Amino acid sequence: MPENVPLAKAFKLTEYQITGNGSRNVQILKDALDGVDGQTDSDMYGKGEVIEAFQEKIAEYLGKESAVFFPSGTMAQQIALRIWSDEKKVNKVAYHPLCHLEIHEEDGLKELHHIQPILLADENKVIELEDVVNMEEEISCILLELPQREIGGQLPDYETLESISSYCRENGIRLHLDGARLFETLPYYQKSAAEVSDLFDSVYVSFYKGIGGLAGAILAGDEAFTKESKVWKRRHGGDLISLYPYILSSDYYFDQRVEKMEQYYVEAKELAGLFNQCHAVTTRPAKPVSNMFHVHFGVPKEKLEPLLVDIYEMTNVGLTGYISDTDDTSCYYEVSIGDQYEKIPKGRLKDVFQILDKRLKKL
Ligand SMILES: Cc1ncc(COP(=O)(O)O)c(C=O)c1O
Repeated sequence: MPENVPLAKAFKLTEYQITGNGSRNVQILKDALDGVDGQTDSDMYGKGEVIEAFQEKIAEYLGKESAVFFPSGTMAQQIALRIWSDEKKVNKVAYHPLCHLEIHEEDGLKELHHIQPILLADENKVIELEDVVNMEEEISCILLELPQREIGGQLPDYETLESISSYCRENGIRLHLDGARLFETLPYYQKSAAEVSDLFDSVYVSFYKGIGGLAGAILAGDEAFTKESKVWKRRHGGDLISLYPYILSSDYYFDQRVEKMEQYYVEAKELAGLFNQCHAVTTRPAKPVSNMFHVHFGVPKEKLEPLLVDIYEMTNVGLTGYISDTDDTSCYYEVSIGDQYEKIPKGRLKDVFQILDKRLKKL
């Protein structure tokens, strides 16, 4: 991170920012609590009106029998895979080589639960039915991450999801959805959350990605599954005496933003189009299938950073505060569209991309 500091600083100073829902500051919580009666009772160790009402609301939205609120998706998903592994007495699960559990959780699944992952599919592609059918190992569960974040948020066809789901049901394999960004995929699939969730035995959703809350996750499934997940939540220390700041903010921003996913998706396609017109820039996917995509630059990070800082200073529009190296000659960053994008005057946006294109051609 340190080498990105000037870029991060310049980005923070801009009046308009293309990505996200705004700064992650304390105001997010203050806004969420503003309309809440101060006499509202706290939840207590996973019980009480505040937590139970939200769990019921999201269970209904996902079309599942029951749901449990967790402080993090990391905790919720390891628990889901543990339950399915115990049920079948097979400590093997399959997932994508770049899924969150494999690359961002310090091997929690292996170290805490002794579950062995089978990596499915080429890391640059989404999981297809043939990857599942050709798997030789006996497994208890397959985890699908929708969209597949580390490859720009790509999605399998809906028909592929249906065929993987049928195959799993016919072959005694549980199917779990990493739906950290499930809400964000619904406009592309043109399906309800309940329709997508119906293909899966268990579903995790997050309230701080597109929804933009503080933190927090819901794990949903049938009654027996969620009952067991509560035992594991306690074992993991996830039963905080009070989770209401996370629950109330999740609920508040869910209501504010879940219906805006269509708008974010349309805006992501528009923005990707602007990037793709620039010299040495491509987006992945070329046409976004949710509110997210990756922007790849055919120039080294060291050259791009000062160029972007200049553009931020000239236009007062920030593109990103952080860039990752791909190799010595190219770099990329992730875009997630939220409330910020619509605030940017269109003329200003046009200027940004004209300057970007011109400056990249000169490099
Ligand atoms: C695809 C995906 N799954 C799971 C998680 C884990 O969520 P949490 O940060 O709530 O543990 C993340 C977080 O970034 C994610 O992107």
